[in-house]
Amino acid sequence: MSSFKCDVLIIGSGIAALQTALYASQTKKVMMVTKTNVRTSNTYLAQGGVAAAHAPNDHVESHVQDTMEAGEYHNNREAVTHLVTSGITAVNTLLSQGMKFDCNEYNQLVYGLEGAHSERRILHCKGDSTGKELAEFLLNQIQHTSIVVKENEMVVDLLIAKDGTCIGAVTRDGNNALQKYYATHTVIASGGCGMLYPYSTNSQNATGDGFALALKVGARLKDMEFNQFHPTGLYINGKVRGLVSEAVRGEGAILRNQDGIPIMEGIHRLQDLAPRHIVAQTIFSHMKKGQQIFLDTSMIKNFNKRFPAITALCERYDLDWRQGKIPVAPASHFIMGGIETDEQGRTNVNGLYAVGEVACTGVHGANRLASNSLLEGLVFGRELGMMLQHCPLQNIQINMEAYKDECKRPLLPTIQELQQNMFLYAGIVRNDEGLRTLSHWLQQFSLSTLLEESFQSLSKEEVTKAFMVLTAISIANSARLRKESRGAHNRNDCCNESASWQNASIIITQSHVEGSVVYEQVKA
Ligand code: SIN
Repeated sequence: MSSFKCDVLIIGSGIAALQTALYASQTKKVMMVTKTNVRTSNTYLAQGGVAAAHAPNDHVESHVQDTMEAGEYHNNREAVTHLVTSGITAVNTLLSQGMKFDCNEYNQLVYGLEGAHSERRILHCKGDSTGKELAEFLLNQIQHTSIVVKENEMVVDLLIAKDGTCIGAVTRDGNNALQKYYATHTVIASGGCGMLYPYSTNSQNATGDGFALALKVGARLKDMEFNQFHPTGLYINGKVRGLVSEAVRGEGAILRNQDGIPIMEGIHRLQDLAPRHIVAQTIFSHMKKGQQIFLDTSMIKNFNKRFPAITALCERYDLDWRQGKIPVAPASHFIMGGIETDEQGRTNVNGLYAVGEVACTGVHGANRLASNSLLEGLVFGRELGMMLQHCPLQNIQINMEAYKDECKRPLLPTIQELQQNMFLYAGIVRNDEGLRTLSHWLQQFSLSTLLEESFQSLSKEEVTKAFMVLTAISIANSARLRKESRGAHNRNDCCNESASWQNASIIITQSHVEGSVVYEQVKA
């Protein structure tokens, strides 16, 4: 096994990872490892854009209020205010660096509208390729730095010193060889876990790796029951093939059933632009009755010019977008919970940080507002990078317990089984009976072994499944404990919000009782 040393090790290559790397590298030696390649990430797939109260007539308070309302007031208001305020600075910095957001013929920025926003405030690039353009912009900057990027390297374990400090990670590289990275600061920026579900808008890499790695070394996971289903995945032959951006409804598209009846009328004052969980749940209830749901896009002029990526996606599946009738279904999209951090990305484990979707700063509450995720990566990545930039240089004390090179081989499910059970029991609608069934099913995969053993003798495929199981159990048990419906967590056995759950969070830690993970419920 070769070993490397750096000041900052970053796991992942989405927008939060890139921002952190760029800022930290101004004074620190930064290495970045990514599971496949730097262009396979949820950032790269993001269509909508960057939400920012940037337009002359927009206000920070209005963006804060929309974020809180979408999050069903489960958000940390201070963190939201910080996100929104710093978001304007982050956008201005990008513009001053030469980032090109879409402009009109007078060279003025064009602001799009998406669900639950009360203003047009979404900055976008090349219509619906914002994530890709932003990622390329940041990747180009990375080329002019000393940052070392390692592709096709999957982190299988974090390294922990005897005093509990995280001092790096072990990876399996593209040739299946193990590599050791020692770092003063280790940043998890590995994104979410949309691939735990059979219908997802996410990249293939979103298998919950970061949550599981963190849980294994004693970090706290928070709000894992809040999983957002995007209302409009492109639905062809029973499969979700990609995303149809909410910006399409922002331009006037209407959700209709197969008879042409608009389904959002009378459901919410914002109708088709209601918060995502409400639209997703409405579509799901119609689909359960055997209906097919379509986006009527007939009113959008020059659809292919405004949405070239969606047009290309439709064409890839031989769908004639000119008909103005795009079949859609809800798909797993984003997790609001994650590794608990402060606004600088610090976790409860010394030397370990988390940023982006994998982190939980409390900004998204029970449901994320559209286009606040690229914003989150920009703002909190910059903040963490700047903090690391100013951390004094330290020598790592490599005094760890002997790192085991063998581990007990865990029993693991197939990915398909796991996805089906997650959708069935911890999907858009949940209840105690289903969640209990799911938890019991997951218990058979020797959770204590998965939590305690090193994964270095497992194949990448086995490690992926092990990460998925640990993330799934965190979601299942959190969802079981939260006996109310709030935001994206929708239970048909406790249908309403409950005052006793207002401002309460479920924290998951690694301690064991009879082989299962212990959960604590804390009031924020
Ligand atoms: C979308 O374009 O609808 C997705 C953007 C987001 O999830 O914020």
